[in-house]
Amino acid sequence: MKEYVLVVDDEQSLRQLLDLFFRKEGFVVDTASSLAEAEKAIEVHAYDLVLTDLRMAQPDDGLKVLRAAVQKNPWTQVIVLTAYATVETAKEAMKYGAYDYLTKPFDNTELRKIVRASLARKEDDAGRRKALRESVRGTSAFEGIVGRSESMLSVFELIDRVAPTDANVMILGESGTGKELVAAALHARSNRKEFPFVPINCAAIPEALIESELFGHVRGAFTGAVQTKKGLFEDAHRGTLFLDEVGELPPPMQSKLLRVLQDRSLRRVGGNEDINIDFRIVCASKRDLHQEMAGGRFRDDLYFRLNVIQIFVPPLRDRREDIPALAAHFVRKFAGKHGKPVERIDGEAMRALLAYDFPGNVRELENLLERGTIMETKNVISIGSLPPNVTKNVTKGPGADSSHQEIFLDEGAFLDTEMDRLEKSYLVKALEKTGGNRTDAAKLLNISFRSLRYRLQKHGIE
Ligand SMILES: Nc1ncnc2c1ncn2[C@@H]1O[C@H](COP(=O)(O)OP(=O)(O)OP(=O)(O)O)[C@@H](O)[C@H]1O
Ligand SMILES: [Mg+2]
Repeated sequence: MKEYVLVVDDEQSLRQLLDLFFRKEGFVVDTASSLAEAEKAIEVHAYDLVLTDLRMAQPDDGLKVLRAAVQKNPWTQVIVLTAYATVETAKEAMKYGAYDYLTKPFDNTELRKIVRASLARKEDDAGRRKALRESVRGTSAFEGIVGRSESMLSVFELIDRVAPTDANVMILGESGTGKELVAAALHARSNRKEFPFVPINCAAIPEALIESELFGHVRGAFTGAVQTKKGLFEDAHRGTLFLDEVGELPPPMQSKLLRVLQDRSLRRVGGNEDINIDFRIVCASKRDLHQEMAGGRFRDDLYFRLNVIQIFVPPLRDRREDIPALAAHFVRKFAGKHGKPVERIDGEAMRALLAYDFPGNVRELENLLERGTIMETKNVISIGSLPPNVTKNVTKGPGADSSHQEIFLDEGAFLDTEMDRLEKSYLVKALEKTGGNRTDAAKLLNISFRSLRYRLQKHGIE
């Protein structure tokens, strides 16, 4: 199979040289002469390899190319090209997950060596990725995050790929989707795992206290500062700082945070000593930060620094395949916690959960199953233990009168079979209702026509 490479350099002669080199080596080559061109190309193709000049129109354009490439395809190998003067920034690029850098001028032997090594790593990565998928298929979880849907697998892969780098990560997603778990997993999979993971909820600290909470204060800095106190940033030294609800940070604090990120040092409130700290920042927000920036409420230079890699955690209603594993996980957990002998979830209750939209996402599922488990007097979660807003639609949908298949909490494989069986019955009922019209059936099931066709094939339904 041919490898795809993108060469990004604003110098035409070098572009041509590299183009020739890669063609001779048997690659399919695209070239770009600016950040904008590179971004356009990356939008269209998932490259195996990207070689990018670091300094183009702007000194850090290469970092932006790197970022775009990894965001589009975490498995792309990026090699940064740089003149001697910018080696420091090239090292910075490695922190962001670049494979390596080449100092200009370089010869073909050097280039060939580094390209081969990067492709060897790509193969290792492919092995890792396969192992990750197999492990998730077996346990339905990754670092304590329960899930097995394709979209969560992508999230897990992205965590696996970026955790060991020092790139700052922005986690976006609706409330209750598991953003904090993702942040913790990034830390647990990083080289900083022996050091603290310090979560800070920016929305929960009163504005007047934020600076002293984050940066600490010296004795006498303000009324009540009777003792010198370290801030949360210092607590996170060599570890990971998780800034939850970062969109809530008041503008003056945004400026101070930006300065700390640039200088890698801070001053305690009232202090005059610069304290060096080493940390990685992971942020989360349920707000649309683009809107906040457009409204002038969030600094875009800060956003650029915090959002090197973005991880989007999809809402639960877009990954219903995760519901059985999550439900089993929570019922098991709460049965243990509250000393209830619950062993299974019956088919009707499962169908209700699968049909519900979960505006509160996984947190809502967790809460309602805790209540359900507590209320249950028998050893099975049935529809009677679920709240009415969840169960009200269940008898109307297709598949309502299929047999009541139970789900046992300790049988992962059984869940798969059950999911398959439910899916098939939904498909059959929908086709029955629409007189075999596939377009209408797709509409009824609220899935795309392609998705319907794929699922019909999978189940061998004509
Ligand atoms: N995939 C998952 N597996 C297991 N538990 C999960 C999962 N997703 C979420 N949870 C649980 O659901 C609850 C909400 O998750 P979390 O606090 O991480 O959400 P969040 O995205 O940070 O929400 P918010 O934006 O409201 O802060 C937690 O108790 C968490 O443990
Ligand atoms: Mg949270």
